[in-house]
Amino acid sequence: MSEQATDNGQSADENSIMGLIHEKIHESDSALPFDEFMELALYHPNYGYYTSARKRVGSDGDFITSVSVGQCFGMILAHHFAPIIESMASNSDEVVIVELGAEEGDLAKDMMGTLAKLLNGSIFKRLRYIVVEPFAAKRAMLHSKFISGELDELEVISNFSELSVNNCILIANEVLDAIPVKRVRWNGNEWVEICVSAVKCGEGQRLVEIERNIASSALKKIVKDYPTTLTEGFTIEVNLRFNDFFADIFPAAEILYGCLIDYGLEADEIFDPGRKNGTLRAYSKHGIIDDPLSSPGRIDLTSHVNFDHASSVAKDCGFEVSSITDQYHFLVKSAEPWLLEIEKAGDPDAKNAKLLRQFKMLFHPSVMGKNFKVMEIKKGI
Ligand SMILES: C[S@@+](CC[C@H](N)C(=O)[O-])C[C@H]1O[C@@H](n2cnc3c(N)ncnc32)[C@H](O)[C@@H]1O
Repeated sequence: MSEQATDNGQSADENSIMGLIHEKIHESDSALPFDEFMELALYHPNYGYYTSARKRVGSDGDFITSVSVGQCFGMILAHHFAPIIESMASNSDEVVIVELGAEEGDLAKDMMGTLAKLLNGSIFKRLRYIVVEPFAAKRAMLHSKFISGELDELEVISNFSELSVNNCILIANEVLDAIPVKRVRWNGNEWVEICVSAVKCGEGQRLVEIERNIASSALKKIVKDYPTTLTEGFTIEVNLRFNDFFADIFPAAEILYGCLIDYGLEADEIFDPGRKNGTLRAYSKHGIIDDPLSSPGRIDLTSHVNFDHASSVAKDCGFEVSSITDQYHFLVKSAEPWLLEIEKAGDPDAKNAKLLRQFKMLFHPSVMGKNFKVMEIKKGI
């Protein structure tokens, strides 16, 4: 992808995506709904933040995730999934692990590495690992990285309509928070929708927020139940795309168990006065960018997942939501067999000492244990 500088000091890609956004603003009567802006900024096939070849996740990227903390996360998930895979394998020829948002494939490698040791050979041989990756460039990257040998069990497909399996384990870490959201604001009188517009700035233009009456009936229905005693300016993100997300997954498997892991809130926490400005954040190089509209395509945009909402949408699509647990409780319980093994062995060797340091970061409530939650969904179990 070209990153050449141009006269205004911006890269050609920045100018291209800005041009596209201005066109869309113009087409939408000077007010582009925020979710449409976020979709262009993150997922435009040529200029989107998540479709580019940049390094996003990890210490040399823009943010860390539980996967990038190290092998420990995938190892514990493998311990969590192993008994479920064994039970599924007892009455099926194959079990398929499906991952969404695999980025560079590290979780696949970490989980399969541990599952190869935990499962008996005949079950492991019947295990498939499929990544659902909508973007061609990222599919090609995963192919070139893995099909050459590192993890030759990995298959990559572009969407759930290509999938029809009996037994499925679904895993999505930090995917829900990256799905474009709408934003609404209490103006003291009614809820209005925050859109994106453009104003003159010197020789050029810059993107700004603009408030509009809510047009979408689905959004109107949701805000109807929100409190009206909030302070003026109270801002909330609403994800209307969860419905398509869960509806696409549902028909792909007869029997499914899934873990959707993300940072997020339950409904009452959303109205906490400390969150008056909402949870939309923009990240670059491990720092928060004050203006989320400033560099579309070059910065990450994300918002906390409203787990009550995600759960009710998943149920409407036919799933059972068996629990929403914080990452602390989920990981400590799932890691029990591994922790007992280490305890039995005495002083941890260097490898286990490293994994234990990673484990602490993942489960400790003051690091990732409390803010991250695990939503477990089921179908046909
Ligand atoms: C914050 S990154 C998380 C990456 C990785 N799972 C991790 O934990 O390090 C979000 C990922 O979700 C992907 N994503 C967002 N919506 C998706 C969807 N509907 N289907 C598949 N991937 C999606 C993005 O392309 C990106 O790779």
